[in-house]
Amino acid sequence: LNYHVPRTRREILEILLKGLQRLEYRGYDSAGVGIDGGNGKDWESNAKSITLIKQRGKVKESKGYEFESETDTESIAKLVKYMYDNRESDDISFATLVERVTQQLEGAFALVFKSVHYPGQAVGTRRGSPLLMGVRSDHQLSSDHIPVLYRSSAKDKKSCTALPRTDQDTCLFPVDEKGVEYYFASDASAVIEHTNRVIFLEDDDVAAVMDGRLSIHRIKRTAGDYPARAIQTLQMELQQIMKGNYSSFMQKEIFEQPESVVNTMRGRINFDNNTVILGGLKDHIKEIQRCRRLILIACGTSYHAGVATRQVLEELTELPVMVELASDFLDRNTPVFRDDVCFFISQSGETADSLMALRYCKERGALTVGITNTVGSSISRETDCGVHINAGPEIGVASTKAYTSQFVALIMFALLMCDDRISMQPRRREIIQGLRILPDLIKEVLSLDDEIQKLATELYQQKSKIKEITYMHSEGILAGELKHGPLALVDKLMPVIMIIMRDHTYVKCQNALQQVVARQGRPIVICDKDDYETVKNSSRTIKVPHCVDCLQGVLSVIPLQLLSFHLAVLRGYDVDCPRNLAKSVTVE
Ligand code: G6P
Repeated sequence: LNYHVPRTRREILEILLKGLQRLEYRGYDSAGVGIDGGNGKDWESNAKSITLIKQRGKVKESKGYEFESETDTESIAKLVKYMYDNRESDDISFATLVERVTQQLEGAFALVFKSVHYPGQAVGTRRGSPLLMGVRSDHQLSSDHIPVLYRSSAKDKKSCTALPRTDQDTCLFPVDEKGVEYYFASDASAVIEHTNRVIFLEDDDVAAVMDGRLSIHRIKRTAGDYPARAIQTLQMELQQIMKGNYSSFMQKEIFEQPESVVNTMRGRINFDNNTVILGGLKDHIKEIQRCRRLILIACGTSYHAGVATRQVLEELTELPVMVELASDFLDRNTPVFRDDVCFFISQSGETADSLMALRYCKERGALTVGITNTVGSSISRETDCGVHINAGPEIGVASTKAYTSQFVALIMFALLMCDDRISMQPRRREIIQGLRILPDLIKEVLSLDDEIQKLATELYQQKSKIKEITYMHSEGILAGELKHGPLALVDKLMPVIMIIMRDHTYVKCQNALQQVVARQGRPIVICDKDDYETVKNSSRTIKVPHCVDCLQGVLSVIPLQLLSFHLAVLRGYDVDCPRNLAKSVTVE
């Protein structure tokens, strides 16, 4: 924050606490705040101190520093202190100190430093984990870029690195603008109520705020590094990260899907002449069309968006499509070649496993494509090209609207890949017209909410079913696999949910239904509302509207989203933050 602005400490504390609350969804396991001044008892005291509010534990270490917590982050604070105690000159700047510390660190981090030795200053840096800066000003800023200050050019690196940096050699921004506030945060939801202007810091940037002025430092300029950081204006609104009238973010996000899929398609599909334009891919589409295979890489729910669209991707692109879990893909050292195109599907754009896989594929010369929901995220910046799904901020840990938007984005990509194939035009038209009515069909499915809530009251005491949110175990299996194992578990007590749609697997699914019923199973079947055959053979059905086969998955997943939501509520769990899970897993 800018210390010229007469905010009281209490106001600052409130801003910080609100920001931390907004980040709770990310699933961090601890939090704390530190504020300049205050002496433990008196908030308004101007003592040369930093008031800290956080948890305590106890460990010891080899340089004789006492540890107060069990987090590895604390060793970084101790390292800065060590560097400060052993500095070679008194005019070493805070940014220089931080720079030296980060050179000693391994792994992923996003850090903001404060020190009683540098009152009125804060320094932030990142590697691997996200860190952005909010910039708030009531006045027009003098520039929409912050120049990056390089300590040295690559060739005279040695001599310059040894020099201590003084405050004078920094080019500060904005030089004489007062009333500017700066915020450091892991994502924009923490700052959006104060400003929508943000700077996304790059790995190893050191951003220093001193007396209300900001400077960004790097050790040296590397190939491809842009020598300024843009101040971007986000479209996100505060209201998007508020629950409104809903009891949880998950519920809100499920009900937003008629609009979020429209936002994914907005400006990209012309339903009158059946054309698709994806601005983020247009310069690369020819190259993608010439590739030898597509590899979709992701984690968690985003991985399932790949699984769910693989078939239509294969059909429309006529390319082999591999769908990979990022961690397994890396563990296997999967062969990747220059003529592969690798997709990274990620709501947050920050998932460490997916990001590692992206770097792995880049090293091997493959073209990389991001499908993300977070503008400015690491994956969106590091990929060669991509599609923002524009679903709006997703806060609930269980991904709902981001999943359906990823699904739609991948379908649009498939349509684009075959837009000049005459033989494909009837199929393309059928799918595009399906996309046109999809939002209304989603609304129709959402109107089943009461019915599904009733079903949940009958099921919620069962031992197994919808995994993460309800802590009930469940397995998703393909109908063709039933006879290869899972059938052994079916009896009249085992809850079974079947999805039977009128596509080319219909007969196989009917067969599976008969197998289950023959073993006294009482399946709940999600089926096409006009499928009288299935309705007749099932004890319980959830009837969804009919859509073109490859979009049916968007409609059939929504009853499952609603069911897991209601089951979790009935079981009294925190729907948005299931235990032990994080929305964005930024560690491997
Ligand atoms: C975490 C979340 C999941 C999410 C997965 C991938 O495990 O708990 O809900 O699907 O990460 O996240 P991404 O942001 O890459 O889509």
